[in-house]
Amino acid sequence: MADNQMDEYEAQSQRIRERMDRIGRKIMIMSGKGGVGKTTVTVNLANALVDMGCRVGVLDTDLHGPNVAVMFGCRDGELMSEDGHTFIPVKPRENLSVMSLAFALEDPDAPVIWRGSLKNSAIRQFLGDVEWGDLDYLLIDTPPGTGDEQLTVCQSIPELTGSIIVTTPQEVAVLDARRSVNFSRKLGVAIIGVIENMSGLVCPNCGFEIPIFGKGGGKRMCQDMHVPFLGAIPMEAGLPNAEDKGKEWITEPGVHPSAEALKAIANEINNGTACSTSRDTSFLGTPSCKPSACASCTSNCPSRKKQ
Ligand SMILES: Nc1ncnc2c1ncn2[C@@H]1O[C@H](COP(=O)(O)OP(=O)(O)OP(=O)(O)O)[C@@H](O)[C@H]1O
Ligand SMILES: [Mg+2]
Repeated sequence: MADNQMDEYEAQSQRIRERMDRIGRKIMIMSGKGGVGKTTVTVNLANALVDMGCRVGVLDTDLHGPNVAVMFGCRDGELMSEDGHTFIPVKPRENLSVMSLAFALEDPDAPVIWRGSLKNSAIRQFLGDVEWGDLDYLLIDTPPGTGDEQLTVCQSIPELTGSIIVTTPQEVAVLDARRSVNFSRKLGVAIIGVIENMSGLVCPNCGFEIPIFGKGGGKRMCQDMHVPFLGAIPMEAGLPNAEDKGKEWITEPGVHPSAEALKAIANEINNGTACSTSRDTSFLGTPSCKPSACASCTSNCPSRKKQ
């Protein structure tokens, strides 16, 4: 890197530090397998946390398939800047700020064909050059896997609170989720917990539950890998349609077990009863789950009890 590029990189790192310092908990939502419900979880947790009175930001780092804007019902949002340097997040509702590459795309059908270095700099811009302001939470939606986007998030955000790993109960999804657990450990990121999504399909007519992807695979993985289990969310027929229309699912009228499960998980996260016990300390050479680095630690946190 040339000297002036180094200076700009350092200046950007400083801007990221300053912006992130004003945010309470910074949480990355990840999965090994695609399509397991990361964006669904991110959007619904964000709405549930706002309903609880929190100020929430959502950053969409899925640059090739940015779906967050659609699910929040703000796909017409535009990337706005007053000074040409800093961007103003789109606010689909009070206390909710959203940033996504979708707001910068003139043609929503155009593919984003970017290599890692471009993705890295776009995510760093979203972190450092967006007016996030004072927030209680920044939820970071990621694409599937353990690649450029996740690495950039983990390496750019000082004191990332932790990761939430989403899986379905199906064996192939769980196998991939195990890699996400180990990725977090290798990067020294606390694991807030694992969510088992699509955990049985509830028939809208009779309420009978069909285990389409099986049940319990995520929970068993948590026991096996000693990571917290945040809860299981059933499949529900009305959810995809609500997301396509940008409707808030957790406040949809009617009885919705998936909405109840999402609200319970948001509650658990906000109460701080979940926390990682799973840092790979041999890699880091530091003690596990420092409360100062993990805002979701409370006296109930099993790793804190060990200290
Ligand atoms: N609990 C659920 N019940 C019914 N449908 C669901 C549920 N969770 C997610 N879906 C649907 O499954 C599909 C995939 O969900 P989503 O886009 O949230 O997954 P993702 O992990 O973010 O995918 P990607 O890896 O492509 O980013 C969507 O059509 C969504 O509406
Ligand atoms: Mg997604």
